Amino acid sequence: MAFAAKHLLGIEPLSKVDILSILDLADQYVSLNRQANKRSDTLAGLTQINMFFENSTRTQASFELAGKRLGADVMNMSMATSSIKKGESLIDTALTLNAMHPDLLVVRHPSAGAANLLAEKVNCAVINAGDGQHEHPTQALLDALTIRRAKGRLHRLNIAICGDIAHSRVARSNIMLLGKMENRLRLIGPKTLMPAGIETFGVEVFDDMRKGLRDVDVVMMLRLQKERMDGGFIPSEREYYHRFGLDFEKLGHAKPDAIVMHPAPMNRGVEIDGTLADDINRSVIQEQVEMGVAVRMAVMDLLARARRASEDGGVMA
Ligand code: NCD
Repeated sequence: MAFAAKHLLGIEPLSKVDILSILDLADQYVSLNRQANKRSDTLAGLTQINMFFENSTRTQASFELAGKRLGADVMNMSMATSSIKKGESLIDTALTLNAMHPDLLVVRHPSAGAANLLAEKVNCAVINAGDGQHEHPTQALLDALTIRRAKGRLHRLNIAICGDIAHSRVARSNIMLLGKMENRLRLIGPKTLMPAGIETFGVEVFDDMRKGLRDVDVVMMLRLQKERMDGGFIPSEREYYHRFGLDFEKLGHAKPDAIVMHPAPMNRGVEIDGTLADDINRSVIQEQVEMGVAVRMAVMDLLARARRASEDGGVMA
C-alpha cells in the first residue's frame, strides 16, 4: 500500500486509488482500536505537532489519540495562548516549530489556504485539519469510511448533503470525494446557503427537503455555521428547523435503510431532531467519531511511509 503525496492538504488532488488506500488501511486500524491493546509503534520516534488556530474538541482529540496510538510523540500547541496573540505571523510560528524537527504538522486555521502555505515553508508532512471554508479532508475520508462500512460500497449511492453548504468545508471535501467515487449527489438547503457557482459542481440542487431526500441512501446533515454568517441568511432558527431540520417525518422520504450523518458539533432542534440523532438504528454519528481516529491513523501512517521512502531515495513527490 503506497501513497505518493507528501502532504494531505485536501481531497482535490487525491486519486481514487489514493482514497481507497487510505480507507483500506483505516479499516485495519478500526480493528486495532477495538482491541484491548491499541498500541502500535508505526510512528515511534516521530514527532507530531497539532496546531489548532480555531476551537476544536473532536478533531484535535482525534488527531492526538491517533498519533499516540501509533507511538508518536504528540504535542498540542494551544494557539490561543501562543505568540500569535503577540502578533507573530503564521509563517514565523511555523518556521519556529520547523526548527524543532517535527515529522507531522496537523493544522486547523480560519483562513482558506493556510495549510498549503505552511506546506511550502516547512520540511515535514502537513495535514490540513480544516482551513476556513476550503477543505477538511480527514472529515470527508472518515465520512467515506463510515458510508462504505454501513452500505457495503462507496459508489452509485444517492447521497444528500443538507443545510449550510455555502460555509462548509466539510461539504466541499465531501462533494469532491463522493463525486470522484461516482455517487449521485444532491445538495439540499435554502438558496441563501448554496455556494456561488453551484451549477459547476455536477450535483442536483433542491430547496425542499422532502423532494431532495426521495430515495436517498445517505443523509448528511451540516451544522448551521453561525460564526461564518454576517446575518440575514435564515429568517429564524425555528423556521429553519421547520423547513430544513431533519426529523423522522422528513427522513421517511429517504430509503427505509438510509443512514443519517452529522460531522458535529450538532445544534439539536436546529438542523437535526435530537431523538433522531441518538437513534442507533438510523444515525451513524458515533461511528463517524470512531472512524475519525482510524482514518487519521491511516493518513499519518501513509505520510510517514512516503517520507521514509523519499529519504531512502525513492521517487515520492
Ligand atoms: C466541522 C468543522 O470544523 O469544519 N467539525 C469537525 O471537524 N468536527 C464541522 C463544523 O464545525 O460544523
